[in-house]
Amino acid sequence: MSIDPRNIETQLKHPSYPLHIFHTVTSTNQVVWDLLAEGNPFPVMAIAAQQTAGRGQWGRNWVSAVGGLYLSIGLNLQITAQNAPHLTLFSAWGIAENLRNYGLPVKLKWPNDLILQGRKLGGIKSETRIKQEIITNCVIGIGINWCNQVPDPGITIQSYSKTHYIDSLETLAAITINGVFRGYHYYLSNGIDNLLRNYIEILDSVGRKVIIEGMTGTIVGVSTQGELRVSLQAPGSKTTLKLPPGTLSLGYGQGEGIT
Ligand code: BTN
Repeated sequence: MSIDPRNIETQLKHPSYPLHIFHTVTSTNQVVWDLLAEGNPFPVMAIAAQQTAGRGQWGRNWVSAVGGLYLSIGLNLQITAQNAPHLTLFSAWGIAENLRNYGLPVKLKWPNDLILQGRKLGGIKSETRIKQEIITNCVIGIGINWCNQVPDPGITIQSYSKTHYIDSLETLAAITINGVFRGYHYYLSNGIDNLLRNYIEILDSVGRKVIIEGMTGTIVGVSTQGELRVSLQAPGSKTTLKLPPGTLSLGYGQGEGIT
């Protein structure tokens, strides 16, 4: 499967941003870091038809067969290191909103999953370079299942049988790129509190029960540091826990608990 860059560029809201297209790479995130090291100007965008060492969250491998979208965007921004989770939050929200505008009822699973019909449609892996507690550069990597073979509990857009308006991998790429910039500009203009209000509206797990150290809690939202807010209720007391990304695994229907 070859990817036609012109078909993506004509659909971009900011068409002057250069797009680097590859057939096979290790990881598009690594490719963007390399392009930045060579002096390419921001933003840098790379897409590959397949990856041999795709990077997933928590050190996992991202299976990247031909037919999926493998995209990374390098941005230079100045935010404090403790706000690193904002990168995933604004990207996930912007991409999900754009996919929803094209008829796919995508929801979010905290912190970085795009879900469709309760199954994993895609994920985001952001990486940062930090100098003196400030993030100076970041790479936002996105994998979305178009027609590739997916491991369970995955879903592809092409297997979704209801009406939508995404007709090619190139259109999906353009929607996704526009989505990252939509989220980024919304975050810069309106701040994290407003972004989170929107993010939580399409967060699948709000109201869900979780068991934490033997106690039942209810997911109530996400904090400005990207932590999952869980309300614990015991007779006579109510506490809200804030769980950093990576400490709680919200499964796909198999139950959940502290990882
Ligand atoms: C996850 O684990 O849910 C996040 C997966 C992110 C995968 C994408 S594919 C394009 C980009 N390049 C990588 O190596 N990883 C990200």
